[in-house]
This record gives sequence, structure tokens and C-alpha cells, in this order.
Amino acid sequence: MIQTESGEAKTARDGRRWTLRPGRPTDGRALARLFGQVRREGRWLITTPGTISEPSEAFWISELIGASESLALVAEAEGETIGNVLISVDRGRATEHIGVLSICIAIDWRDVGIGSELVSGAQAWARERGLRKISLGVFPDNERAIAVYERRGFVHEGIRRQQYRSGDEYRDEVLMAWFPKEA
Ligand SMILES: CC(C)(COP(=O)(O)OP(=O)(O)OC[C@H]1O[C@@H](n2cnc3c(N)ncnc32)[C@H](O)[C@@H]1OP(=O)(O)O)[C@@H](O)C(=O)NCCC(=O)NCCS
Repeated sequence: MIQTESGEAKTARDGRRWTLRPGRPTDGRALARLFGQVRREGRWLITTPGTISEPSEAFWISELIGASESLALVAEAEGETIGNVLISVDRGRATEHIGVLSICIAIDWRDVGIGSELVSGAQAWARERGLRKISLGVFPDNERAIAVYERRGFVHEGIRRQQYRSGDEYRDEVLMAWFPKEA
């Protein structure tokens, strides 16, 4: 987990106040709840509702945050967890230079600049850690997410066609990456 001081006070583009802080293992339950809410929107995330229980996900997130090779940043407002970015780094020798990024902002807090700030914070950590590559996968119709990644310097690496099944539908995945040493 990233080691910095407690939280940083921020103002969203619409004037609302929020705080950016490092994740703690005790954030597991609140983050699992947030992921569950976003998953129930049924559009953005690969895992569909019901595929993972909230307690299992909370446990998995707490373990990830507790691991020294990962990053978790949390956005909070009005006592609620409203956003999160995670970078998990593989322990394998061949892939330990790569971090995989995932991000989630609560529906009422989108489009006010928080996602871009979280991606920026994750990039600063990746640079500091000496990672060579941050990679991610995104659905092609997630134009907002793609806009944020492109603006933060991520490039398109390719498309994995019909990579995920969602009910009767098969969805493509756009692969994107950011290379700290080339930025
Ligand atoms: C994708 C996500 C992380 C972005 O975070 P955010 O806080 O909403 O993003 P920001 O407010 O920082 O920036 C959004 C930008 O996208 C732009 N945007 C919004 N909808 C858009 C669209 N349909 N096409 C292009 N750009 C769009 C906004 O105008 C804004 O740009 P601006 O800063 O120039 O105004 C967030 O919306 C989210 O969590 N969505 C649901 C979960 C998800 O998709 N996660 C990523 C899975 S890969």
C-alpha cells in the first residue's frame, strides 16, 4: 500500500468536497459495497452481479490492500466511500514490472474530475515504484473511461474480440496501457 500522510482535501468540479487518501485493509467492506453498486449497473465491469459475494470480495480487497506490492487509493465524501483505484502487481518474475489498474467511482460522483485525479495518483505511485507498464482492459462502449485514460497518456494496445460473456451477449475488450518511463 502507498505510504503517505492521511488524506488530502479536494474540491470536485461542481464544488463538492472530497478527500483522497491511501486505502487501508479496513476499507474492504466499504469498497466491496461500492463495487457491488457499480456492478449492478450492469454495463461497466467484467464481473456480473452475483458472481462474487460481498464478504468474499471484502476479504480479497483487504488482502490486496495489505500487500506491499499493491496500491489502493480511496475517495471519500460525506462519510461515504465514493471512489477507488487499485493497482495490483504480479509477483511472477516475468510480469513483476506490470501493474494492472482498476477504477470505480460512485454514480453520483462521476464527471466531476475524481476519476482523473485517482488515475493521476496511481501514475505517480507507479513511477515512484519503478514499474514499466500499467495495463487495463475496458469495454469499447465505456467512452468516458477511455476518454480519461487517453487524457492521462494511456495508449490503445489492441482489442480482444468476444472476450467476455454477459448473458447472451459477447463483449469485446479494449486493452490500454501507460508506460511511465516513456511518458
Ligand atoms: C470511468 C470513471 C472511472 C471515470 O471517472 P470520473 O470521475 O467519472 O471521470 P472524470 O470526471 O475525471 O472525467 C470524465 C471525463 O470524461 C468525459 N466524458 C464523459 N462521458 C463521455 C463520453 N461519453 N465520451 C467521451 N468523454 C466523456 C467527461 O466530459 C470528462 O472530461 P472533462 O474532464 O474534459 O470534462 C467513472 O466514470 C466510473 O467509475 N465509471 C463506472 C465504472 C467504470 O467504468 N470503471 C472503469 C472500468 S474500465
